[in-house]
Amino acid sequence: MSAPGQGAAHRFALALLVAAAASAGAADGKAVYDAHCAACHQPDGAGALGLAPPLAGTLGKRMSAGAGRQYLPGILMSGLAGRMESKGVVYTGVMPSWQQLSDDELAAVANHVLAAFNGASLPADHQPFTAATFSALRDSKPTAKALRAWRAESD
Ligand code: HEC
Repeated sequence: MSAPGQGAAHRFALALLVAAAASAGAADGKAVYDAHCAACHQPDGAGALGLAPPLAGTLGKRMSAGAGRQYLPGILMSGLAGRMESKGVVYTGVMPSWQQLSDDELAAVANHVLAAFNGASLPADHQPFTAATFSALRDSKPTAKALRAWRAESD
């Protein structure tokens, strides 16, 4: 006796596997953002008073400075806690480390935040981040002191 619909279920499972293989190495930055970042930084990157600073319109200008290019991947890898001023508002919450995400997911979410929320202020020669940026950081996670210095330098 064979269960009805079993063949269709197998074909569906196979289609999922093929889709997963095709997308390996190309994580969906918006999906990562919506799952892990939006609760604090809000779906549109506007931030939330008393919770998390805006990511919209505040990061693009940093990408023209070497320090700023180190800052964004660095804060995703190490996290940061303490006082941070953004657009005249002081935040004192905790930005968690996202080192549990894959290098592909980290690159995708960094590129999503820049393209979706900071497109107008990116330098003309801006190059997207790659997974290699994040794999290199795993053995040399930046300290909070370094992150604050890079942020200040790229202000
Ligand atoms: C639990 C809430 C929370 C979540 C979830 C969160 N963040 Fe943050 N994020 C913060 C806080 C709070 C700060 C400010 C940290 C400080 O005061 O040192 C911050 C700071 C930042 C900054 C630096 C902003 C600046 O102006 O320098 C970036 C970039 C950032 N987060 C990106 C992300 C991304 C991308 C994700 C998802 C992978 C994420 N955050 C998830 C709370 C959060």
